[in-house]
Amino acid sequence: MSMKALVTGGAGFVGSHIVDRLIDTHEVVVIDNLSAGLLENFEHHKDDERFTFIKGDITIDADLERALEGVDIVFHFAAQPDVKLSVEKPLFDFETNVIGSMKLLNLMRLKDIQRMVFASSGGVVYGDAEIMPTPEEISPRPISNYGAAKAAFEMYLSSFSELYGIDSVSLRFGNILGPRLTHGVVYDFYMKLKQNPKRLEVLGNGLQEKTYLDISDAVNAVLILSDAALKGFNPVNVSSEETIQVRRIAEILVEGLGLDDVHIDYTGERRGWAGDVIKTSLSVERLKSHGWKPQFGIEQSIRKMIDWLIERFGAIP
Ligand SMILES: NC(=O)c1ccc[n+]([C@@H]2O[C@H](COP(=O)([O-])OP(=O)(O)OC[C@H]3O[C@@H](n4cnc5c(N)ncnc54)[C@H](O)[C@@H]3O)[C@@H](O)[C@H]2O)c1
Repeated sequence: MSMKALVTGGAGFVGSHIVDRLIDTHEVVVIDNLSAGLLENFEHHKDDERFTFIKGDITIDADLERALEGVDIVFHFAAQPDVKLSVEKPLFDFETNVIGSMKLLNLMRLKDIQRMVFASSGGVVYGDAEIMPTPEEISPRPISNYGAAKAAFEMYLSSFSELYGIDSVSLRFGNILGPRLTHGVVYDFYMKLKQNPKRLEVLGNGLQEKTYLDISDAVNAVLILSDAALKGFNPVNVSSEETIQVRRIAEILVEGLGLDDVHIDYTGERRGWAGDVIKTSLSVERLKSHGWKPQFGIEQSIRKMIDWLIERFGAIP
């Protein structure tokens, strides 16, 4: 009999791509409250008897009880994923990202489900790290509430591994790019240019420098790490080894969309918004030691994302 996997947030961007791959080898249950996720992201599985969708919320015990029925492994991807919103509404962020996650983890304990793969964020848990590329050994020092919530839940993954034998991988993702992504810088720039193809406002001075990874490379990493069945609590950076400045992303967008005479306006601050980390560069030695190798570079991933945006939302103008 195949293993049964629960994917929380499986109607969202990353979660739905995980479902696409897991369904080959697992029975898959998705729980998602559809606050951001879309039914169209898994429509192609709806007639598959190995697939079940539960419209439910990870902060509601009864929904989690249903979702965890007979499950062997949990891929926890449901979250409030917006740094800005976490700054404006810290308790809402806490409710979903810490309390919801804790309810899930505690029910796993009560049901004796012993494996979790958690979507954390290497872009936020380290804050303004002094060592770059940042290795997993560095103490988390988040500068946003979203980052604090991810780091807080990781600490419980650590204690639950020791106290109750729940093994976990905490995927400290850089930014991920690909089809179905409807937030983040590339999507936001595209939407702004769709509204006004002559002007692009960039939050900050454009010198913020981050790391981006193609969704196919990210999903390969997730599967390699879950197949490794690591014992204990295992934080692992999942990212590209390259970085790119926001300025360059804006240029690639303008060029990739075939636009000219676009006036790029920088709002000028070092951080794009409160809680924005100025530079993220992650060491991926730990991930590579498991045999992972990315296939796409950052610029290539951005261009692939632009192709999808045009296919999904139309060319500009
Ligand atoms: N996309 C990235 O670049 C990135 C980077 C670092 C970490 N992450 C993490 O990866 C995970 C997935 O991110 P994503 O980009 O796919 O985001 P997403 O918004 O596309 O997916 C999150 C999903 O969770 C669902 N959800 C939200 N609150 C819920 C609740 N209370 N109960 C049930 N479902 C709920 C949403 O409807 C959505 O489908 C998140 O944990 C995010 O923090 C993403």
